[in-house]
Amino acid sequence: MTRQDHATRIEKLLAAMMLGEKIGQLNMLTADLAVTGPGMPADYMAELKKGRLGSMLNLYGVPLMRQVQRVAVEETRLGIPLFFGYDVVHGHRTVFPIPLAEAGAFDPELWEKTARIAAIEAAAEGLTLTFAPMIDVARDPRWGRIAESAGEDTWLTCRLAEAKVKGFQGKNLAAQDAIAATAKHLAGYGAVMAGREYAQVELSERAFHEIYLPPFRAAVAAGAAAIMPAFTDLAGVPLTAHVGILRDTVRARWGFDGVMISDYNAIAELMAHGIAGDLAEAAALALKAGVDVDMMATAYTRGLPVALERGLVAMSDIDACVRRVLALKAALGLFDDPYRAQAPVMTAERWTEHRAVARDAARRSIVLLVNRNDRLPIASPPARVALLGPLGDIAPEMLGPWSGAGRGEEMVSYAAGLRAAWPQSRIDAARGVEVEGEARSGIKPALDLARAADLVVLALGELRWMSGEAGSRAKPGLPGLQNEFARAVLDLGRPVVVLLSSGRPLMVPWLFERAEAVLACWYLGSEAGHAVADVVTGRWNPSARLPVTWPVEVGQIPIFYSRLPTGRPIDPTFRYSSKYIDMPNEPMFAFGHGLSYTRFAYSNLRAAPAQLREKDTLAVEVDVANEGRAAGEETVLLFVRDPVASVSRPVLELKGMAKVFLAPGERRSVRLSLACDAFAILDAKLAPRLEPGALEIYVGPAARAEALLKTSVKLVA
Ligand code: BGC
Repeated sequence: MTRQDHATRIEKLLAAMMLGEKIGQLNMLTADLAVTGPGMPADYMAELKKGRLGSMLNLYGVPLMRQVQRVAVEETRLGIPLFFGYDVVHGHRTVFPIPLAEAGAFDPELWEKTARIAAIEAAAEGLTLTFAPMIDVARDPRWGRIAESAGEDTWLTCRLAEAKVKGFQGKNLAAQDAIAATAKHLAGYGAVMAGREYAQVELSERAFHEIYLPPFRAAVAAGAAAIMPAFTDLAGVPLTAHVGILRDTVRARWGFDGVMISDYNAIAELMAHGIAGDLAEAAALALKAGVDVDMMATAYTRGLPVALERGLVAMSDIDACVRRVLALKAALGLFDDPYRAQAPVMTAERWTEHRAVARDAARRSIVLLVNRNDRLPIASPPARVALLGPLGDIAPEMLGPWSGAGRGEEMVSYAAGLRAAWPQSRIDAARGVEVEGEARSGIKPALDLARAADLVVLALGELRWMSGEAGSRAKPGLPGLQNEFARAVLDLGRPVVVLLSSGRPLMVPWLFERAEAVLACWYLGSEAGHAVADVVTGRWNPSARLPVTWPVEVGQIPIFYSRLPTGRPIDPTFRYSSKYIDMPNEPMFAFGHGLSYTRFAYSNLRAAPAQLREKDTLAVEVDVANEGRAAGEETVLLFVRDPVASVSRPVLELKGMAKVFLAPGERRSVRLSLACDAFAILDAKLAPRLEPGALEIYVGPAARAEALLKTSVKLVA
């Protein structure tokens, strides 16, 4: 069917619809509340039969989907099919690393591939839309949702946004293995005050436009079918009702004509925010801003008829939303095939293939934080291994905060992974302590195992529910008695490798100072244990980097590399300079930090042309040499700085990345290109422009001044 055919069909439907049916298309309900049948409460069925339901969330599985879709198509007056949305955030049945971990791979091809696989599996279970990618820039490890994000950097988040949208949606939304992507949560949610979930956001307009909004523009440019506005506010206006951003910027300026789906109950919550007196006002505010679908609030079904009567909204406002919802259904091919009967069938080969990608994604996401005395890798299998700590043998925890359709029992625990890698070794697992709680009885037996072991693997961290939505922590360290236990283990003087599992950077400075080897394992998904074993044994040389600055202490937050210069840079000898008097300014680990089993050296940075004009592309080249003994992959990062502009610019901004694989002793020249508009800035009035003058180019592995090579070019008018 052509676009024109769709448009004609939509207009015909619209003309035939009664008010209740129109509003019904804007209503999304969940299948998992007050369950009375197989995942489907009877009253939602009743709503559906009356034509008062347009889409559902939290329902998957072909038999159930078919049963519900059949009612929509055969038992409603107009037979309009539903679309089915779900949080397929980091994989569906095959679970990939959490986004914060996967971001550390700095690898758009991988990001696209894992989203593609997630889409195939989700589509095979009848899903047609995902509430992903989550592309909130996140700079506060107290905020649990940092786990779902790509971390602190805007440019990196933009690249992840594009890759994920492409991966989920494929080339054609109507393809049976494609699902619609929802870019969420627009925008600024990551800046909730003090990292407290759902709290107030205090941002400058510049920060909003320069740091938080660009990933959404990138997602729109990549063709994202849907957008979810954030629960939170911007200068007192909740995004769910923000006309200036949703309607004037996203729809009018960017040309986004897809569907806006509210967050869960967010329209009704406009009352709690104190900007709507009742449900009718709340519904009117959201509708006027351009929110098409009301997730779980019944604010539209109950509030819109009243709002219409009061003259708060016009029928044309409602029609515009209905058109967009129907257009999405048409684009998904649902009018032609409501059951998407040709959706991919999951064969044994397909599962194996997906598992292999999950293993690769997981090992590419593990960051080697510390490796003193080349403690890692452990090349030959130790005779006796003590796998200690509460997270060593607990497969379901590998799922991470959003599990999709993942099943805990299908995850590979660290214990299972190490046992598979070292079949001849004796591996004794003991928790020692729990993640939470005060029980000490397990400590002594665990220490006895450590004493007898040739290698101790110590699996510490937080439980998966401690990050993700509503997982804010004011003290993001190791919970429970884990510090005490870890100290006791390290005191024994045995060789120890620490596996740290978390949805955020955990602040345990003492551990990083004392432990010989620490791996940031985040939550790695289905193949966690195998991936960790690949890294521990050296079968995989770790290449991941931190997509977020890792603070020493909570008091340093917010801390991120792309900060503005101060008039008084830190000077340890001068009191009146920008610093703390009780701790360093420096983080524990910089953005981009991540060790390898080999050593890479950078030299000979050059950039051309030296005089850059608006239409030019800058070619940046650097030589990278592998000076160590292992083959490995290096991620080369390119940062820029505009040292003198009409507004103060950050000391570093990431603008490029490249990968190079080098054998020991090998040297190669790596080339990155940068279109001139990478240097565009928002001027004092927030208008984009290129300002002539010197530009500094930095290349290296991480956002640490001493790790970067520098050159400069000149932008000429
Ligand atoms: C979250 C969204 C999610 C939705 C549906 C909300 O609470 O903020 O990110 O997509 O629930 O599960």
